[in-house]
Amino acid sequence: MKKLEDYVRSIPDFPEEGVIFRDVTSILEEAEGLQLAINAMQELVKDVDFDVVIGPESRGFIFGVPIAYNLKKAFVPVRKKGKLPRETVEMEYDLEYGSATLEMHADAIKPGQKVVIIDDLIATGGTTEAIVKLIEALGGEVVKITFLMELAGLNGRDKLKGYDVETVICYE
Ligand code: PRP
Ligand code: ADE
Repeated sequence: MKKLEDYVRSIPDFPEEGVIFRDVTSILEEAEGLQLAINAMQELVKDVDFDVVIGPESRGFIFGVPIAYNLKKAFVPVRKKGKLPRETVEMEYDLEYGSATLEMHADAIKPGQKVVIIDDLIATGGTTEAIVKLIEALGGEVVKITFLMELAGLNGRDKLKGYDVETVICYE
């Protein structure tokens, strides 16, 4: 039987030279890969006491929504700038290949709510660090952060010291 790791295709020099792109679409394209991925990530949060899943556009949506649905929690999207229609809070950040600005609706998290962040991958940690700042600015408490894949060589965890971070697959 194939393991989850066996579904991940690694593409050298995408989207720019020197980056090894860990392609999540090759997991999703196989029914069994999708089952394994959602189940493995859900396992990491199923016993956590929390109110809301936060997932960043776009790959965070793929994993965040089914897990929130299965565990009967709310889902709040974090989007790239200019997509959300109501009042937002925003944060600029850097990632492995560029920089961007993320936004959340300003009323999406109520003060005191316990939040789990779910995304497909941590590289430099810049995306997640920005999301943590947005959640905390709104009064939320980040109780767990999970990723399907971790690129450990980029030391993303260093930006998330003090938080409970767990990943399913780790690339050195
Ligand atoms: C990817 C990935 C993470 C982020 C990780 O998203 O899905 O969200 O990069 O990188 P970091 O740890 O260096 O911040 P990307 O911004 O490429 O957007 P996408 O999901 O829309 O492809
Ligand atoms: N996001 C940031 N770095 C990445 C990588 N190397 N592979 C896939 N997604 C990424």
